[in-house]
Amino acid sequence: MEEERKSVEKETLDRAKQDHSHIFEEMELLRVALPYLDSSEEASNNVRKTVDFFERNIVPHFIYEEENLFAVALTIGELNIKLITRELQQEHISILSKLDQLKDIIFKYGFILRDERVKDEFVGLSREIIGLFLQHARNEDEKFYPCLSQMSVKTDVEFKE
Ligand SMILES: [Fe+2]
Ligand SMILES: [Fe+2]
Repeated sequence: MEEERKSVEKETLDRAKQDHSHIFEEMELLRVALPYLDSSEEASNNVRKTVDFFERNIVPHFIYEEENLFAVALTIGELNIKLITRELQQEHISILSKLDQLKDIIFKYGFILRDERVKDEFVGLSREIIGLFLQHARNEDEKFYPCLSQMSVKTDVEFKE
């Protein structure tokens, strides 16, 4: 069995925090660009950029957190940290499900969305993903990460040889 991790390294937590700031900045640009999805020749480009952005940023960030932070919290965290982690896992799933719906639009219609109804659905889902991600990252920044950094201080002391 793999050796159990007993704390979260400061660098691991810092990387997740930096991911948030980076994603926030890029998302703001994306949010501003969304109304221009149907600006003629740029349309398919913008649809592609939107989906690519979510795929390249959100998905790897979630995997990173799940493997490096959630796994530790669920192994050695106290009950309240475990409960917060479970909520955060569910938020990941909700956001990823929205992303699946977004990709399904591309599978069905390609990158040029001619139908107004489909275009509205695409923009609506993109806005929902942005909103859910911002709320989720705020929950992590305010509730989860502070608990984790305290946990590592405590466990560093407890497990010192
Ligand atoms: Fe997360
Ligand atoms: Fe996060």
